[in-house]
Amino acid sequence: MKNILLTGGIGFIGSHTLVELLNRGYQVAVVDNLVNASEITADRVREITGRDFRFYRADIRDRDAMEKIFAENAFDAVIHFAGLKAVGESCVKPLEYYDNNIYGTLVLLETMRAHNVKELIFSSSATVYGTPESLPLTETSKTGGTTNPYGTTKYEIEGILNDLYRADPTWNITLLRYFNPVGAHPSGRIGEDPKGIPNNLMPYVAQVASGKLQKIRVFGDDYPTPDGTGVRDYIHVVDLARGHIAAIEHLNDPGVHIYNLGTGIGYSVLDMIHAFEKACGKQLPYEICPRRPGDIAACYASAEKAERDLGWKAEYGITEMCRDQWNWQSKNPNGYEA
Ligand code: NAD
Ligand code: UFG
Repeated sequence: MKNILLTGGIGFIGSHTLVELLNRGYQVAVVDNLVNASEITADRVREITGRDFRFYRADIRDRDAMEKIFAENAFDAVIHFAGLKAVGESCVKPLEYYDNNIYGTLVLLETMRAHNVKELIFSSSATVYGTPESLPLTETSKTGGTTNPYGTTKYEIEGILNDLYRADPTWNITLLRYFNPVGAHPSGRIGEDPKGIPNNLMPYVAQVASGKLQKIRVFGDDYPTPDGTGVRDYIHVVDLARGHIAAIEHLNDPGVHIYNLGTGIGYSVLDMIHAFEKACGKQLPYEICPRRPGDIAACYASAEKAERDLGWKAEYGITEMCRDQWNWQSKNPNGYEA
């Protein structure tokens, strides 16, 4: 059974993956500096799974801390979630994003190499495809042309990992390109807890449903999509977490393996609002606003490669995504804060 390090494993996607790993009996350690997470999540994960794991509160850029963590554990593989991820903030603080995401990854890779740990799963993003030339996006679709520093960090890290493998073909690297993760664990004990006003659609919708925010702003209704609003491939975070299990179980051959993790189905902003209305049992006020700069009209995955090679496919649809997001929001109206 594998011994795995999760960087950023207390965050939204990391904590759900942690639950799936612990439920399957993996030995896991987590390093997270809590820049965008709460330690309460760690307790909730222990409560859901009835299992323990080592938690290191440290920054992946701290070489001494990383060296100590690797010296204390015989890791087989690393799942690398740690990173800053707010698109708008990255435009205001590009240097902080390059430092945290790219330099942090370099320190991690150097520590892994020093300890001969060469199996890595990296949290990449559909954002690396820039503006899609055609849909659905396959893993061979053109990448690059990212429109913000956050997206550029993902694109650059993919390039670094390709170079690393070219220089040393004993590395075994999987790039998972996530589409739009939403929902929460069905227990309602862990979920996404954005700081301040949410940037992403679904946490915003959930906070309007709970009365914390007044009205949903729909950014544009004049896109070339069926109802004019933006179309995305929303994926339940538990499905996404299970995609990591499939990837871990298939870390057999050295190489750089790339998989889209999405459902393959695109839903519009209005589709998501109406599905959420059903989940929470009330009508949600919204207004049509101007387009948000940098947004693309539509983005959805071909999820065929992950199904073919990893035997993984998303099981949940928008009904479950909205049900579980509402369950989390209504049970934790202030997130992890009491
Ligand atoms: P998150 O912010 O909830 O989780 C990231 C975690 O990393 C947080 O717990 C944070 O405290 C930690 N972290 C950040 N910098 C760190 C550092 N220098 N050292 C140690 N810990 C650090 O975000 P998430 O939604 O769970 O995303 C996880 C990964 O998936 C990120 O790399 C993100 O870019 C990527 N991703 C997310 C989405 C999305 O929409 N949520 C989409 C595509 C890709
Ligand atoms: N939207 C609204 N109102 C809002 C928020 C969003 O109408 O208040 C719309 C957007 O215009 C877009 C759709 O809802 O059409 C989804 O927007 P999100 O902000 O939820 O997600 P994005 O697709 O813009 O971005 C997400 C992540 C990025 C990641 C990208 C691709 O936030 O980090 O998916 O994976 F890069």
